[in-house]
Amino acid sequence: MQRLDRLADVRAASRAWRSAGRTIGFVPTMGALHAGHAGLVEQARSECDVVVASIFVNPLQFGPNEDLARYPRDLEGDLRTLTAAGADALFTTTPAEMYPSGFQTHVVPGALAEPLCGASRPGHFRGVATVVAKLFHLVAPHQAYFGQKDFQQARLLQRMVVDLDFDLVLRILPTRRESDGLAMSSRNRYLAPSERTAAPALHRALQSVQAAFTAGERRSEALAAVGRAALATTPAFRLDYLEVRDDETLELVPTLGGGAVVAAAAFLGSTRLIDNLLLGSAERRLG
Ligand code: PAJ
Repeated sequence: MQRLDRLADVRAASRAWRSAGRTIGFVPTMGALHAGHAGLVEQARSECDVVVASIFVNPLQFGPNEDLARYPRDLEGDLRTLTAAGADALFTTTPAEMYPSGFQTHVVPGALAEPLCGASRPGHFRGVATVVAKLFHLVAPHQAYFGQKDFQQARLLQRMVVDLDFDLVLRILPTRRESDGLAMSSRNRYLAPSERTAAPALHRALQSVQAAFTAGERRSEALAAVGRAALATTPAFRLDYLEVRDDETLELVPTLGGGAVVAAAAFLGSTRLIDNLLLGSAERRLG
């Protein structure tokens, strides 16, 4: 696997691939890779001539009291994961190179960034959109691959691609889970054994909402109440939010039509976990 560790290197490599007529698939990450990330790389491998992954723990998307300093880093393990999944190149960079002194221009997403994680993590999605816009310019991919795990992130980046005329297709792939249903996440490494045992309750709470939807409930507040009550049976969890919203606009819709998303964030100790499930016809609208 080719290592690209300067902005100029990744630009030059991308230009060369493009002028040779090769299609580029791109998987941006913050490292500490797991099978969820590997699945994105494998999908890119099956659809593109060249597969580029990036690892960059982006300081711009972490709040002052968040886990930037202790975010897990495991370059050796990541190299093995990326090689096994079929990546051709890995782009890594540093905060100093991405945000040199004088940096002051940001991408500010709109209404899609306001609810859910946007409400709990002010500035987070501005940091995400800014770094992903920069990465898209540097890598110039034909296709970019994101996980449904971070559904709000993927939806607002799809919007950014349209609004700012990025010439690429942004794909959202289903969440990969552990066998007990816990969504794979780099942050699962923080969980103490007792927290790890409690963690699948988040997925089960979302499943209880899905079951109520399937049984015919269409009032979004009633559906959310089902999920909150289910999560409350695991007292170790401290709820941040659990909401049912339109899966495209992320707006609150009192009575749902064919599809929606149920999304939740909750703390186990100091670890914040997120998860979501699509309801009804929303499955078909991932993109
Ligand atoms: P990170 O959390 O490393 O995730 C990188 C990509 O992997 C994201 O698109 C995320 O949704 C996807 N992913 C994470 N867990 C997954 C799972 N269990 N199943 C499927 N996909 C999964 O998201 C980020 O990094 C950053 O915000 C980034 C986009 C790189 C910008 O800094």
